[in-house]
Amino acid sequence: MAEMVRKSSVDEILNHWILAGSCILLMITGFAFLFHWEAVSSVFGGVNGMKTVHNYGGVVFSLSLLYSMRHYFKDALEYDADDVQWFKVAGGYLSHKVTVPPMGKYNPGQKLYYLAIVGAGIAIALSGFALWFMKDNASMLLLAHLVHNIAFIVFVIAVPVHVYLGTLANPGTFKLMVSGTLPLSEAKRRYPKWMKAAGKM
Ligand code: HEM
Repeated sequence: MAEMVRKSSVDEILNHWILAGSCILLMITGFAFLFHWEAVSSVFGGVNGMKTVHNYGGVVFSLSLLYSMRHYFKDALEYDADDVQWFKVAGGYLSHKVTVPPMGKYNPGQKLYYLAIVGAGIAIALSGFALWFMKDNASMLLLAHLVHNIAFIVFVIAVPVHVYLGTLANPGTFKLMVSGTLPLSEAKRRYPKWMKAAGKM
């Protein structure tokens, strides 16, 4: 049997499911508030029930986002010359004629995605708690609505792209979200610098 390499720990897999599940629930209920989707709010017993689910979903999302920092934050802050070159060739996604430089555990697109999620996540969480607990402060409510909606736009753009790249665009990647492992031969091909650092090449 092929030797396997663990890319995501069990702890990381569980947290990713909690992060993804809460984020998608928040996005669906958020859209339902914005566009008055009664078919969705009726699932939660009306708008008030949906608000309760959205608020507590926000608590779960915030905790899970904070916890995710121990998995990705350090990697997401480190970039080298190969990462810069990766941007120049758009990761090889736009043309098969370019040479994609060797990558470490995460490519710079994934690292920037994580920083966008942390930035927008903190903004959406803080403004969400302001909307929840500072109902008497009219100017704070106005600012919180603005920040909440701008951060929401970041999620609406970034998350579908991430889901597409983690499934259809890169067949086999979704397995990392379930088992967290991949064959050593594939890891050597996709993440040569990570495998070198781990003494596997
Ligand atoms: C439900 C649909 C989703 C799918 C199918 C999915 C898929 C994946 C996969 C396969 C990976 C591993 C990539 C690798 O190690 O190379 C991953 C990583 C990650 N996911 Fe997701 N994901 C989903 C939703 C989300 C959501 C909603 C968020 C954030 C709000 C999120 C945040 C992350 C982060 C931060 C990483 C690690 C760094 C990265 O790959 O950018 N994911 N995801």
